[in-house]
Order: sequence, then structure tokens, then C-alpha cells
Amino acid sequence: TRPLKVALLGCGVVGSEVARIMTTHADDLAARIGAPVELAGVAVRRPSKVREGIPAELVTTDATALVKRGDIDVVVEVIGGIEPARSLITTAFEYGASVVSANKALLAQDGAALHAAAEDHDADLYYEAAVAGAIPLIRPLRESLAGDKVNRVLGIVNGTTNFILDKMDSTGAGYQEALDEATALGYAEADPTADVEGFDAAAKAAILAGIAFHTRVRLDDVYREGMTEVTAADFASAKEMGCTIKLLAICERAEDGASVTARVHPAMIPLTHPLASVRGAYNAVFVESDASGQLMFYGPGAGGAPTASAVLGDLVAVCRNRLNGATGPGESAYAALPVSGMGDV
Ligand code: HSE
Repeated sequence: TRPLKVALLGCGVVGSEVARIMTTHADDLAARIGAPVELAGVAVRRPSKVREGIPAELVTTDATALVKRGDIDVVVEVIGGIEPARSLITTAFEYGASVVSANKALLAQDGAALHAAAEDHDADLYYEAAVAGAIPLIRPLRESLAGDKVNRVLGIVNGTTNFILDKMDSTGAGYQEALDEATALGYAEADPTADVEGFDAAAKAAILAGIAFHTRVRLDDVYREGMTEVTAADFASAKEMGCTIKLLAICERAEDGASVTARVHPAMIPLTHPLASVRGAYNAVFVESDASGQLMFYGPGAGGAPTASAVLGDLVAVCRNRLNGATGPGESAYAALPVSGMGDV
């Protein structure tokens, strides 16, 4: 069988792990897919940076030319941000490739248009890594629970803020002190706005709500409140009530089934709730549905290797589909349910 060719766009924390695992687990991946996968090119911004294990001749700064080569089976996009990722993904479909992406911001903003572009070209668009790193959520919601009716998705989908809130809870520290520690340990970015103001969680909520309820939810539809105003005193009061405080993403179907809501805000939860015991930078998502009842998905929601695990799972699925001349679940079954940011809390 001919090798399937993979173009890797981005070689940062996640991309370098994807390349490493593709190399070290090449035999296992080939066995699972039924054909070898070959790293055909790696597009980077800074070519001079030393990248262990990646042959120099594969590295290019011209991502567009790599995507337009015409012989690429799968484009793996781990650049992040809206542009140039969006144009590169669209071009990938036009040139016959399927796409695996870890890009939550892009999927939350333009998921519907990108899915439509994939369908127009009989290609796949998979993005398990866009929500909660290694934790399988997209595939379970889209496939395993496709015969059930999901009513609520509730979870901790941002590791940085969970680390900060956990620190405040366990040590009595204030927000700034806990944030400084998260930064020193490398959890929080130099600019932590996307995490602490809830934008990152809101993008993930939009993606989860869209998939869980088979509708289209965009970042702008999600009510968003960050956690920068949570104080040590709030934790003290929560404790008196047998509660803790978590930044939650909450996606719900209205009881009449005619609309959905999605929101992100700090919330008090009883210490007896399983989400209360999610510590450090971990993520956890609770799914409630008609037939399955309550499910909880738990694990590392960020980091190079965990996120690469989700990317590689998608890569295997997309390669299998390609060999079978098939595509995975698309968007055609989506209903356009009205979405609002707030519901009854
Ligand atoms: N900044 C994100 C987090 C990374 O802290 O969860 C994963 O999306």
C-alpha cells in the first residue's frame, strides 16, 4: 500500500510531539491504519530553530506551497489562531487533503464554514485536540452518543484557570499570587487573558455545544465571564457552604428542545460533586443524556504530549477513512436551533 503523506503545519509544543510520535510509533501507526504514514513536510515560522528528529530537508517556511503540493493526504494544523490557519485549511481541502486541527479559536468561529468546505471536497475535518487536550470528547459526542440525546454538557475545560482556582482554594492565596505561580510553572501564558477572561473556555463551549446538540454555536453566542474577580473571601464563603468555586462551561438544551444555551462563568459547586475534585491543571467534562444518564470524561486538558495524543488519534481515523474512500461524520445532519448565551442558572 502506498504511504499516506502528512503535512505538519506548526512545530511548537504540540507539533514537535506529533512529529516525534509519528516517528517513534511509525510501525504501530502503520499497523492500525493499514498503510504507512509519512511526514512529507513541516511548515515552521523559524527554520533556524533546532528540531530534534525532524530531517532538515522536510522543514519549510512556505506553508502554502506545502499544502498546494498536490500529493498530501492529510494536513495537520497546529499553528493556532485564525489566520493563516483558516486559509491554509481551506486550501488543503481544495488540493484534495483532509485536515486534522487543534485550533479551538478557529473551529469556534468558523467551524460551520470549514465543515462545509470539507464536505464540498469529500474531505474530513477532525479536531479532537481542540477541546480538552487528550480527553476524548468530540468523537464520543459525535459518534458514541449519536444515538442518544444529550441534554447538558458541563465542565472544566481550561487547565490554567483550574490550577489558579485550585491554588486559591487549597492555600487561601489571592488571585494575583495564584496567577503568578501558574505563570512561573509554565501553565499560564505571558499574556493570560484568553484563559483568565474565559475566552479559551468559551471557544471550547461553542465547539462542544454545537456537537452535543447537533446545531451551530459560535464563540459570539456564548455568554462569557472570566475568573479574575474571584477573591480569597469568595472561597472562604464557599467553604462555609460546603462548596468550592470552578470556572465552568455549561451547555444546555432547553426543556422544550427548541433552543440551546452556552455560557462560561465561575460557579459554586458542592464539594460532593465530582467536578469539585478536579485538581491542578486537569480538565473534566460531565455529559448528561437521556439514555446514558451521567458520564464524566477526565484527564489532562493541555500540554504537548496529551494534545498530540488527540491529534494522532484523529490522524489514524482520517487515514483509515481515506484508505476506505470514505469520510467521517460531517455537518449535514445539523439542525439550526436558536442559541442564546444565558439560560436559567
Ligand atoms: N490554555 C489552555 C488551558 C490550553 O489552560 O487549558 C489548552 O487549550
